[in-house]
Amino acid sequence: MTRIAVVEGDGIGHEVIPVAQKALAVLHPEYEFFPVEVGYGRWEQTGCPCADRDIAELKTADAVLFGAVTTPPMKDYQSVVLRIRKSLDLYANLRPVKGDGFDIMIVRENTEGLYSGIEEIGPDRATTLRVVTRAGTERIVRAAIRLAQQRQGKLTIGHKANVLKSDVFFRDICMAEAKKTGVSYNEKFIDALGLDVLQHPQAYDVIVTTNIFGDILSDVASYLVGGLGLVPSANIGDRYALFEPVHGSAPDIAGKNWANPIAALRSAAMLISHLGDPEGSVRIESAIRRVLASGTRTRDIGGSAGTREFGDAVLRILGKQG
Ligand code: NAD
Ligand code: IPM
Ligand code: MN
Repeated sequence: MTRIAVVEGDGIGHEVIPVAQKALAVLHPEYEFFPVEVGYGRWEQTGCPCADRDIAELKTADAVLFGAVTTPPMKDYQSVVLRIRKSLDLYANLRPVKGDGFDIMIVRENTEGLYSGIEEIGPDRATTLRVVTRAGTERIVRAAIRLAQQRQGKLTIGHKANVLKSDVFFRDICMAEAKKTGVSYNEKFIDALGLDVLQHPQAYDVIVTTNIFGDILSDVASYLVGGLGLVPSANIGDRYALFEPVHGSAPDIAGKNWANPIAALRSAAMLISHLGDPEGSVRIESAIRRVLASGTRTRDIGGSAGTREFGDAVLRILGKQG
């Protein structure tokens, strides 16, 4: 029995995740889904955004389908998605950005760096410790190299080693690992890389970088494919896996049936591929493409279709293929 934990989360998570879940159910009627309610809405109702038992429940699933959670910039509020990534040790955040003539895989370290959680706010000074460990770097670069070897065989290391000692450390370990395997690699400062990815996307295959740089780079690179509504992600560890759009809860459009469900559908596609059905993943992608080609699209990419209408069109195609 394959069990999928479904976390809609907040905002447009409630709109896009049902579409993605239905796509999974059409392709895999044998999957069993169970909801886990965490996030800001839960905090408003109960004062607790995510309990230890929620984490324990997520760990019982074969995979987690995750929407997005609202993380308010408040002193004492701990981001639920960061807590889940750390608790499940989902160290590799894979963010594919694929379009005409380019196919980039951003591999974002997902458990440390500037997101170490070692920080404090004092009356006159605030600090956040950027922690880069040897073990953390080795495992992320090895994951990136494995991916590069299955793809075009090119690795780009994104860093800011001209300024940050922690990135000298990160870069050196990445280069040493790349040398050992013989994969072809180059390195680039992350600021210049942000622009070059937009100007020459075809020059990139796998990009490995630290936590917050990968966060920013993936939002920036989403421009290449039409924005945040299109880009999925996989958060992978040695024991657990969670799949979520790169976008957030989008409070500005939540509840309007405007959200683009493609990022969520593609996250579902990454999920089934991870669970051993790469063909199902291709079917979701080709259904998305057929609906787009028919002219049906959501507002963020110039159309007028609603979340549900776009989703229904994809589901109809998936259903007929079945
Ligand atoms: P966001 O990604 O939610 O939205 C940025 C912009 O992109 C908004 O204008 C939004 O309307 C648009 N957008 C995003 N997804 C879209 C979609 N599917 N279709 C159409 N338009 C879409 O980022 P934000 O506004 O900076 O953050 C909002 C909240 O989400 C914050 O609380 C943030 O912390 C949280 N967030 C959560 C996650 C997560 O849970 N993984 C990720 C990112 C942001
Ligand atoms: C993302 C988000 C999260 C991150 C936030 C909401 C904690 O921006 O998944 O990209 O920074 O990782
Ligand atoms: Mn982000």
